[in-house]
Amino acid sequence: MKPKILITRRLPEAAMKLLKPQATLDVHAEERPIPKPELMKRLADKTALICQLTQLVDAEVLAAGPQLRVVANVAVGYDNIDVQAATQRRIAVTNTPGVLDETTADFTWALLLAAARRVVEGDALVRSGDWRGWDLLLLLGTDVFGKTLGLYGFGRIGRAVAARARGFRMRTLYYDTQRAPAEVEAELAARSVERETLLRESDFLSLHVPLLPETHHAIGAAELTLMKPTAILINAARGPVVDEAALVAALENGTIAGAALDVYENEPKVHPKLLKMKNVVLAPHLGSASVETRTRMAVMAAENVLAVLAGKRPPNLVNPEIYAGQPV
Ligand code: NAP
Ligand code: GLV
Repeated sequence: MKPKILITRRLPEAAMKLLKPQATLDVHAEERPIPKPELMKRLADKTALICQLTQLVDAEVLAAGPQLRVVANVAVGYDNIDVQAATQRRIAVTNTPGVLDETTADFTWALLLAAARRVVEGDALVRSGDWRGWDLLLLLGTDVFGKTLGLYGFGRIGRAVAARARGFRMRTLYYDTQRAPAEVEAELAARSVERETLLRESDFLSLHVPLLPETHHAIGAAELTLMKPTAILINAARGPVVDEAALVAALENGTIAGAALDVYENEPKVHPKLLKMKNVVLAPHLGSASVETRTRMAVMAAENVLAVLAGKRPPNLVNPEIYAGQPV
């Protein structure tokens, strides 16, 4: 009998083609996460779960799948999954690192440029019919070239963002728990600094850390106070990395000049005050949203599942402890 896979949202056809011959698929085709009681019920006879970052997979959910061997997130971030509980049950957890770096870095730059050069306000003005023509003082933004870019988190995506800053002749600073190899710093013209220096000196502060207990509210009132009043905060990492209420206060008080956000503390809810602020650019979690990249991510998740079903170690394993003592 074929193994059974629960898929919590429709996947691109390329991924479905890989999975169909190998397994019986139970696809939840609605555009919302599966409610927890239903998820638990549907997991009862499943060997694998392919899910998205909006689907909470906690210890209770994992316990509802006695045959479950792999949870494959179609995302690089996996803060929606209780990895420790999965490890205890010897369930492999996989993600999709690497394939989305360039696309997410491109989008980070789209946010940065849109906020700096007031693209969204300009678009609204043209559409309103109120535009009266070129004006020396119309919608003046701030220059990007030559400024200081601060990267909070200098992993795969942070580095891809840094690579693009070279074209803008920016000074790039970064803060990360680990210093990058000297050759990476040299290639990207990026300098490691203390956290406080990053906050104080960045004209554009862009966040690229995963959501962990240590990074929850990494940017709060105290950090925002250290930033320049002209600074713009960009968050294409995870919403709870920023204390959204503190950010709203900082934008209201002029503690910082603006923000460009792809992610929010309680998605899809957005702080109502952010919705009204003109100095804020808002996107609906689109970082990796290109046809090519979302297809690559789905195929990667399918390949991770198929590896586990074939008795192999999946290529993008988050919890290698479950294979402890076995050859790599
Ligand atoms: P990554 O390669 O693991 O990079 C994250 C970096 O942050 C690592 O260098 C990590 O260091 C560092 N870090 C961890 N904790 C830190 C802390 N407390 N302070 C400073 N640095 C810390 O991950 P990535 O692939 O670049 O992705 C980063 C995150 O972006 C993902 O986890 C996801 O949440 C988010 N993301 C969002 C979108 C979107 O659509 N908006 C798309 C893709 C990814 P260590 O390696 O030493 O832990
Ligand atoms: C998207 O947010 C991801 O983590 O891949």
